[in-house]
Order: sequence, then structure tokens, then C-alpha cells
Amino acid sequence: MKRIFALSAALGALALAGTVEGQEKEKHTASRQASAQEYEGWRQYMVTCARCHGDDAVGGVMAPDVRTAVAKGMDQAAFTEVVLNGRPDKGMPANKATLSDEQAASIYAYVKARAENRLAAGRPEKKS
Ligand code: HEC
Repeated sequence: MKRIFALSAALGALALAGTVEGQEKEKHTASRQASAQEYEGWRQYMVTCARCHGDDAVGGVMAPDVRTAVAKGMDQAAFTEVVLNGRPDKGMPANKATLSDEQAASIYAYVKARAENRLAAGRPEKKS
């Protein structure tokens, strides 16, 4: 009984160390500093995409992590195509009636900065 407890405590400590290490990594590489375009993209993302794809673009209950698609090589053209035309048969709505090309480009810039871990989670600050 004692041994089982010790083992689970050790495993717990290991799991905790893993998380802390992950947070440290993000802290060292990502900042809150966003370009004007990334900041605008964050705003648009929060209004139009976050309810399905999650706050901070980390994925949600409804829809996948969009950082992964970009990190795996989805380029701006392919991203914009999905954003504007959607995949109506799969639950991804079209946005061409409400988003301009410029707004779609800023959303891509925001997601790319998140995918490359340059921009931390949370509300960004516009670089001056
Ligand atoms: C109503 C929920 C919903 C909203 C709002 C929404 N999406 Fe989606 N999105 C989805 C779903 C569901 C999928 C998965 C479709 C599939 O399985 O191919 C998806 C897929 C995607 C993909 C393709 C991911 C991949 O791996 O192929 C991108 C990119 C994307 N969405 C971006 C956006 C952006 C940017 C916005 C905001 C402008 C947005 N979505 C708004 C539901 C949503």
C-alpha cells in the first residue's frame, strides 16, 4: 500500500515537471508583442473563430487546433480558401459574406504567429 502511494506520488511529480517545463518553454520563446496585423487578426479571430476553434487558437470542442494545420504546412492561400468558402459539409462555415481578404489575411498572420510560438496565449499588445 505504501509502495503504491510512493509510486503514484513519483508519477504525479513527473507529470507536474512535464507541465512546468512546457510552460517555461512557452515563456521563453513566445511574447505578447504582436504586429498591427497580428493584433487585428487576434481581434477578428476572437469574434469569428474562437467559439469553435477555441480561445488562443488551441482547438475547441467543436473544431480542430488551427495552429496544427498551419504548422504542418497549410499556406496562406489554402487557409484563406477554407476561411472564406468554408467546408459546409463538415461544419466549417463560409465567411466570405462578412470577412474581407484583408481581414482573412490578418487572421492567418495571427494563427501563424501562434503556430510558430512567437505569440503567447492571451490578449496581445500591439508593438509600437
Ligand atoms: C461553427 C464552428 C466553426 C467556426 C465559427 C469556424 N470554424 Fe473553422 N472549422 C470548423 C470545423 C468543424 C472544421 C473541421 C472541418 C473538417 O473536418 O474538415 C474547421 C476547419 C477549419 C480549418 C481547416 C483545418 C484543417 O486542419 O484542415 C481552418 C483553417 C479553419 N477551420 C479556420 C477557421 C477560421 C480562421 C475561422 C474564423 C474565421 C473558423 N475556422 C471558424 C468549425 C468552425
